Amino acid sequence: MSFLSATGMTGGYGNGPDIIEDCDIIVDKGEIAVVVGPNGAGKSTAMKAIFGMLNLRKGAVVLDGLDITRMAPQERVRQGMGFVPQNRNVFVSMTVEENLEMGAFIRDDEYGETMERVYELFPVLREKRNQPAGELSGGQRQQVAVGRALMTAPKLLMLDEPTAGVSPIVMDELFDRILEIARTGIAILMVEQNARQALEIADHGFVLVQGQNRFTDTGEALLANEEVRRSFLGG
Ligand SMILES: Nc1ncnc2c1ncn2[C@@H]1O[C@H](COP(=O)(O)OP(=O)(O)O)[C@@H](O)[C@H]1O
Ligand SMILES: [Mg+2]
Repeated sequence: MSFLSATGMTGGYGNGPDIIEDCDIIVDKGEIAVVVGPNGAGKSTAMKAIFGMLNLRKGAVVLDGLDITRMAPQERVRQGMGFVPQNRNVFVSMTVEENLEMGAFIRDDEYGETMERVYELFPVLREKRNQPAGELSGGQRQQVAVGRALMTAPKLLMLDEPTAGVSPIVMDELFDRILEIARTGIAILMVEQNARQALEIADHGFVLVQGQNRFTDTGEALLANEEVRRSFLGG
């Protein structure tokens, strides 16, 4: 049994048409899974469906053996899901540290140690802990967003385009940190538009097109696949 098993997901927004159709996303323990595909393919929609922000018409989401298909997002957080959405993922007028504290709001245990680990992972956040998050660079804000999700002590960390709008150097750094998080035993599910670089660190990859799985394989096999390269990785 995989750690996250989201299968047959079919659904859309409100009463609108299905955006994802029979979509499967599987993540094993301790692995990095990456979702790639063209703009508008439904990658963010699939992430929202897994996190409980979309009413699925069909399909099931099972986390660590527990069927969470009908659970609200905050209940999923309690079950071990951390989610960094694509947009507006920090509170810009709150300080870095307040953002991290917000991440811990569902916990009733001591979270000081987790915050210390976030600061060890992202030292610049410790330096800037009393600054409003809105004053930080794009890459640093993404660190705040990832740090906030880590404050819930997730078993599965879901990231929607964590490297959007950052320079290649900052992207490499962020991917290194994500690898470090994975090494602590947290499973990672990540949507990325930097498909080639993301697949290089992926154990498994999912290529989504028009809301459906087009290719599913190891990161390595997808990078070697002629058709995937030509159509989705720029040759
Ligand atoms: N909140 C929303 N309400 C209605 N339609 C949406 C909403 N968000 C996304 N869509 C539509 O769903 C489709 C897939 O979008 P999205 O999941 O954001 O794609 P991706 O993340 O792969 O770029 C697009 O056609 C988009 O217009
Ligand atoms: Mg998206």
